[in-house]
Amino acid sequence: MDADARIVVLLSGQGSNLSALLRARTEGRLSASIVAVGSDRSAAPGLRHADAAEIPTFVCRPRDHGSRAHWNRALASQLAAFAPDLVVLAGLMRIVSQEVLDAASGRVINVHPSLLPSFPGLRAPEQALRAGVAISGCTVHWVDSGVDTGPILAQSAVPVLPEDSATSLHQRIQAEEHWLLPAVVERVLRGPLPAAGTRPSAATPLRALAEPIPAPPSRSP
Ligand code: GRF
Repeated sequence: MDADARIVVLLSGQGSNLSALLRARTEGRLSASIVAVGSDRSAAPGLRHADAAEIPTFVCRPRDHGSRAHWNRALASQLAAFAPDLVVLAGLMRIVSQEVLDAASGRVINVHPSLLPSFPGLRAPEQALRAGVAISGCTVHWVDSGVDTGPILAQSAVPVLPEDSATSLHQRIQAEEHWLLPAVVERVLRGPLPAAGTRPSAATPLRALAEPIPAPPSRSP
């Protein structure tokens, strides 16, 4: 994939991961362009980061589309209009259908705040605290039609501290997301990408790619 690769980011919330991708682009750690940012919520604060960076935004709200199937169809067509090479779900709080995955040629990745396959779905940091685990972290994975079930590309672990609340644990996890996601996006776009129209499989984890992910600057010797 060349430096003109096109990324579309989908989000529902604060957009700190979008900010991390934008920062990586500014600092030369991400060669691809973010060509659009979409959301299922017109009030999603993350959309403002896109506005500030003069990136086109679009909103596809479930309430405007009657059924889940219709919403997915509308999202698929909005995505397809931007001809993305890769779609990044950066806090999109909805499950997308196969139709949406197809509109992105199956090239959709997600960042999730747990070490999958543990704690998929909503409120992962809270699930981790309740389970009493000593280590949690984040996962970047290919998206399939399940809930946080697609092949894992990369993970980063953090300790769970005795005094943690769901918020403090989530913040520690997000600090990892902010270096891991841009690094994975860059490596994924350097390929080999799954062929358009095929579903990524367990044969395409990041460790199979040519270059390993560098450690974050704070951990370099
Ligand atoms: C992140 O923690 C991500 O793992 C989860 O949603 C959160 C989005 O945060 N899927 P932000 O909107 O990027 O700040």
